[in-house]
Amino acid sequence: MRVLLFTGKGGVGKTTTAAATATLAASRGLKTLVLSTDPAHSLADAFGVPLGPEPTPVEDGLAAMQVDAQRAFERSWREVQDYLRGVLERAGVDALQADELTVLPGAEEVLALLELRRQAASGLYDLVVVDCAPTGETLRLLALPEALRWYVEKVFPAQRRALKAVRPLLARVATVPEDGVFEAVARLHAELTEVRDLLTAPSTSVRLVLTPEAVVVAEARRTLTSLALYGYRVDGVVANRVLPASDDAWVRGWVEAQTAQLSTVRADAAPLPVLVAPYAPGEPVGLDSLLCFAHSLYGDADPTAVVDTADLVTVQRDADGFLLSLALPLARFEDVDLARSGDELVVTVAGHRRLLALPSALRRCAVAGARLLDGRLVVRFEADAEQWRES
Ligand SMILES: Nc1ncnc2c1ncn2[C@@H]1O[C@H](COP(=O)(O)OP(=O)(O)O)[C@@H](O)[C@H]1O
Ligand SMILES: [Mg+2]
Repeated sequence: MRVLLFTGKGGVGKTTTAAATATLAASRGLKTLVLSTDPAHSLADAFGVPLGPEPTPVEDGLAAMQVDAQRAFERSWREVQDYLRGVLERAGVDALQADELTVLPGAEEVLALLELRRQAASGLYDLVVVDCAPTGETLRLLALPEALRWYVEKVFPAQRRALKAVRPLLARVATVPEDGVFEAVARLHAELTEVRDLLTAPSTSVRLVLTPEAVVVAEARRTLTSLALYGYRVDGVVANRVLPASDDAWVRGWVEAQTAQLSTVRADAAPLPVLVAPYAPGEPVGLDSLLCFAHSLYGDADPTAVVDTADLVTVQRDADGFLLSLALPLARFEDVDLARSGDELVVTVAGHRRLLALPSALRRCAVAGARLLDGRLVVRFEADAEQWRES
């Protein structure tokens, strides 16, 4: 099963492109689902039909749904949170502190992705197209399983211990906390890890949608770096609302500006393809317009073709150690920060952080240096005599 995600800044045409791609794929015989995780749903408007939180048939071989993030959240976390908060408060923990201990930052948007996992697992589809929330939320998404792992491994054992200590007291004032709650958290963590595995699988790729305007392009460049950092495979850029040549002086001014931005985009994205969609004379709404939009974007090409993207993370042996190489297109060295935390390498790029679990061969090595080379961060690891002796 193929998964295609469309993301980009607000208003650039993510929903239109996702809906059009799904429509074209379905017209060519793929059983397709298009699912929107953006809380600002507009998939129903793009198709011009009502949609709900479950797959609704739109056309032969094509279904669409708008995830209800609130509902997904209620299902997965609220119960655990309320229970824990109640227990902690009754145990005398200050209400504010109890709130802090049980909150899961940014969970709502992210839990929408649990729905992607559920639909992907149904086995009903050859292709699932995701109309994502604007870039920021999408990026947070991949960091969550890592944040949650930290929560599960570090915070929960502490809470569990604290609860054990107050259990005799609790028995008098409240229901004794069940281990089931901790299991629910562990299960949620496992599910999010599965989401992450699905999102970073070789059959999953991201297309970044933009319009050729300076502000949008500047954000798109940063996004390309961050997506690679988090392990997303970007296999194409969609430049939307490109104006046609015109004799009108006002339009000509815009065409020139767009042309300049487009050449920046092509240079930045290379070797990835940049697909171009013209500014349509009206909103591409409804199946016919969407199909027409998709034809101008893909022509005869297969919209689901797997483009050979660079390996995101590789490890190579060399004379006195290993080289770990991480794709970070367009990153600037001054924005990159590296730290070692136990068996993890913490890579921060312009405020985005990823915890890279080190392969076993590298765990006993020390970081000896790093540099940016051809859009990749190359970190040198050398055998660390201290670490070998210790174990
Ligand atoms: N190529 C295009 N030509 C004309 N209108 C477009 C084009 N692409 C998108 N639109 C319109 O622009 C608006 C925003 O597009 P949408 O796909 O909803 O953006 P996003 O999902 O990124 O917020 C919609 O009204 C859509 O119909
Ligand atoms: Mg949208």
